[in-house]
Amino acid sequence: MSEQRDQFSSKIGFILAAAGSAVGIGNLVGFPVAATKNGGGAFLIIYALFVAFICVPVMLAEMGLGRRAQKSPLGSYQALSPDNKGWHIAGLLAVITPFMIAVFYMVITVWIFGYLWHSVTGNLAMLADPEYFGQFVNDYGFVGFLVAVTVIINVILVGGVRKGIEKAAKFLMPALFIMLVLLVIFVLSLDNAALGVEFYLVPDFSKIDGSVINGALAQAFFSLSLGMGILITYGSYFSRRDDIVTSGKLVALTDTAVAFTAGLMTLPAIFAINPNTNPDTLSDSSVSMIFSFFPQIFVALEGVVGYFGASLAATVFFLLTFIAAITSLVSILEVPTAAIIEKAKFSRKKTLLVMGFAVTVLTLIAATSFGFIPAFTEFTSYAGQTKSVFDVIYDVFYDTILPLNGLLICLFVTLHWRKKGLEDELSEGNPNYRNTLLAKYVRISISTFIPLILAVVFINTVLTKFVGFSLF
Ligand code: PHE
Repeated sequence: MSEQRDQFSSKIGFILAAAGSAVGIGNLVGFPVAATKNGGGAFLIIYALFVAFICVPVMLAEMGLGRRAQKSPLGSYQALSPDNKGWHIAGLLAVITPFMIAVFYMVITVWIFGYLWHSVTGNLAMLADPEYFGQFVNDYGFVGFLVAVTVIINVILVGGVRKGIEKAAKFLMPALFIMLVLLVIFVLSLDNAALGVEFYLVPDFSKIDGSVINGALAQAFFSLSLGMGILITYGSYFSRRDDIVTSGKLVALTDTAVAFTAGLMTLPAIFAINPNTNPDTLSDSSVSMIFSFFPQIFVALEGVVGYFGASLAATVFFLLTFIAAITSLVSILEVPTAAIIEKAKFSRKKTLLVMGFAVTVLTLIAATSFGFIPAFTEFTSYAGQTKSVFDVIYDVFYDTILPLNGLLICLFVTLHWRKKGLEDELSEGNPNYRNTLLAKYVRISISTFIPLILAVVFINTVLTKFVGFSLF
């Protein structure tokens, strides 16, 4: 007799944990800046449409697959297609992808922790020095911050689903919402904040082109934690009596609402400090925004609220981002954890030890590829550009494999498991699902245009990233 599988205690437990996964650095920084640069309200509309019409069906498919199989992504694909070895590769990809994305996300999270530490200890002025980030990433201090972050994550993961992940989410997510709202209120009370709101919200359709549309879809996909095996894994911890469909919709709504609200903090802050900011000059990279740009904004607040007030604002901001990052990291590391427990039959503790070691080593390699160790910094080159280990992980797993994993799940649902299998699963806990408009929409879209769009995105990314040629 196998042991009873650990489960979320309730629908709300699942929703908070899944929202904890979805709400991350992408929401707080990536989304607001992408929106402002790419047509404001016009981008917001396109993004919302992608969430509703492309991401929600994929999300339901992932959750349904996990709950049906009651296994990790690796085991789920295997269990539902025992004789078809081809699909097992999809399962393998759905476990390797989160592991590698965890490495790149871990590097950024450790840096955030370092910046949080320095904000709390009164070193905001140091952080705002334009040279500082370059020194910080090449400093041995990284190891100390890495150990601290690894301990925090493992303390949560060792508790398992209900006593670890769910408990942490129930405490951390409300704290995150409160801090976000407090920061928004504070920022909106500053002079010139309205200018930022204007850039963020007023639609400019002339900015919309193929690459903006592609970027909006990629952002939505990443933000909802799709293609990473996370929702398959969390789905497997979801009670059969509970309603996946409503929960999925609520997670998508929460994630989008947080991203939208973050824009009311980020942009007004930028414009309050410099009303002449040209949005086109803002960096596309969340990393340079968080670590180079924001500290300068916070330091500039000194004139308004004093050094202590500015440090306090910076501390709340980095704490907020840190919490968002930690709850995402926990979810992504749960995927390989579940797979190892299942396949190697290790205990949770032993699994976390093995995996923690592997992640730490890879994180160190990725983190030292910013100049510290030349062999990792100039690791390889493609499409005419030299790439570091960090770049390769980002390009291969985040940019390329995520849409591929999304495509594979759509194909699996359509070709192997059959659409009816998905519909039956989603009807459990929501008996009326079959008669809804959403069910009709999912039935049609998941086997036609959603996989088609994901295939185009995948091919375009491969061509752009590795061949140096873009379709649009
Ligand atoms: N959804 C997260 C974000 O927006 C992305 C993520 C989730 C990354 C889970 C890693 C793990 O930042």
